[in-house]
Amino acid sequence: MGYFMKETAKLTYKEKSIELPVTEGTFGEKGLDISKLRATTGLITFDPGSVNTGSCNSSITYLNGEEGILLYRGIPIEQLAEKSTFLETAYLLIYGKLPNQDENKYFSESIINHSMLHESVKDFYSGVPATAHPMAVCSAVIGALATFYPDALDPRNERHVEISIHRLIAKLPTIAAYSYKKSIGQPFMYPDDSLDYCSNYLRMMFSVPCAEYYADPVIAKALDVLFILHADHEQNCSTSTVRLVGSSMANLFASISAGISALWGPLHGGANQAVIEMLQNIHEDGGNINKYIDKAKDKNDPFRLMGFGHRVYKNFDPRSRILKKYCQGVLDTMGVYEPYLEIAMKLEDIALKDDYFIEKKLYPNVDFYSGIIYRAMKIPLNMFTVLFAIGRLPGWIAQWVEMHRDKHFKIGRPRQIFTGAKKTHYEPIEERQ
Ligand code: SDX
Repeated sequence: MGYFMKETAKLTYKEKSIELPVTEGTFGEKGLDISKLRATTGLITFDPGSVNTGSCNSSITYLNGEEGILLYRGIPIEQLAEKSTFLETAYLLIYGKLPNQDENKYFSESIINHSMLHESVKDFYSGVPATAHPMAVCSAVIGALATFYPDALDPRNERHVEISIHRLIAKLPTIAAYSYKKSIGQPFMYPDDSLDYCSNYLRMMFSVPCAEYYADPVIAKALDVLFILHADHEQNCSTSTVRLVGSSMANLFASISAGISALWGPLHGGANQAVIEMLQNIHEDGGNINKYIDKAKDKNDPFRLMGFGHRVYKNFDPRSRILKKYCQGVLDTMGVYEPYLEIAMKLEDIALKDDYFIEKKLYPNVDFYSGIIYRAMKIPLNMFTVLFAIGRLPGWIAQWVEMHRDKHFKIGRPRQIFTGAKKTHYEPIEERQ
């Protein structure tokens, strides 16, 4: 919990001064507590995009953007990527500690045993066009799960929340695979309880009734690492969305459905798809990398180097470093030559020596290399952000649960500075211009 320091900050406004308490986090980050600001001064703060505003205390994930540090419940992401599994990391994020043998067995088995969907869920898929983007389908179907489990929606009932957590983590891969099968006109493949989480997902994606697909263990492991790297990232756009929706006491399915929609945007999770589209354009344009570096720097050109830049990381994104190493291994295993990897590495090399990127502290983020690995796995482009959602699900859940347990719990309701018309009056239509 944020610790209130003896320190305060003095705010003087119109000859009146107030002392605002300073709260301090575990690693010394400090926050000005303005919860009494309006009541004592009539002032509110103004901070578009909450660039300078903390929304909560949290003990789940720590980022140090200056030093490129990412810890899940205190454990460095590098150690989890090397030694853990996605389901174990999900347990760590949600329950606050690594599971012991019994806890791990119960959690993993429960997830496997809830991976099937109610047969009526398939009817949702028959209602969407084959061209539907899977993020739209996944958001809709996840939200609709609340209609199948009306008896387990109370955010303050521990048992309701527990079973909903297991159902969500278990069923999202199935929902995702079904959205892919729908888009290519193939029959849905049921989950296979004998497989691990990632192998099960890949089998549902690529098996057909007449030909089984069993993922190469190297590929399944690479996907597991990708999910670990995406599992949480403190108060990013989609996590803040999950918290905001949950703060109205909406159920967990509704909150996660909103998070999936927020993640879809190309400035957020949709960037992994946008990176590949960008690399494809550069490749088809003859690989003229400097042309695109110049476009990214041109204020009058809307082009951005997708997969570069981050609100928090003003140094390297540790996840991107891990993924860059993984890329070549997966490509070698798949026996794939990927020209996009060469372009990506040249882009990174040139950009990191360019003053524009150096001054604005723009480094490759998690999305810059992840798409290259997904391509090598033969994951279709419009499923990339869905994989981000599968990975981020435990983080969304952990943050939502933490919010409900927070003694400062309140419904989220930001203020505004009104800049519209002064008070006017209604004009009859015949008098209007
Ligand atoms: C994710 O928050 C999280 O933790 C997110 C995430 C997670 O795990 O949840 O890490 C996942 O969303 C990663 C980010 C994926 N998005 C992209 O790769 C899209 C490209 N990147 C950007 O659009 C941008 O960098 C953001 C959205 C990531 C961050 O935007 P900010 O913090 O609001 O910064 P900004 O847009 O104000 O940019 C600051 C300056 C601007 O120049 P000036 O107006 O100050 O002159 O840097 C420039 C921008 O024009 N800039 C870029 C750039 N990113 C920022 N210029 C060229 N290419 C880019 N990619």
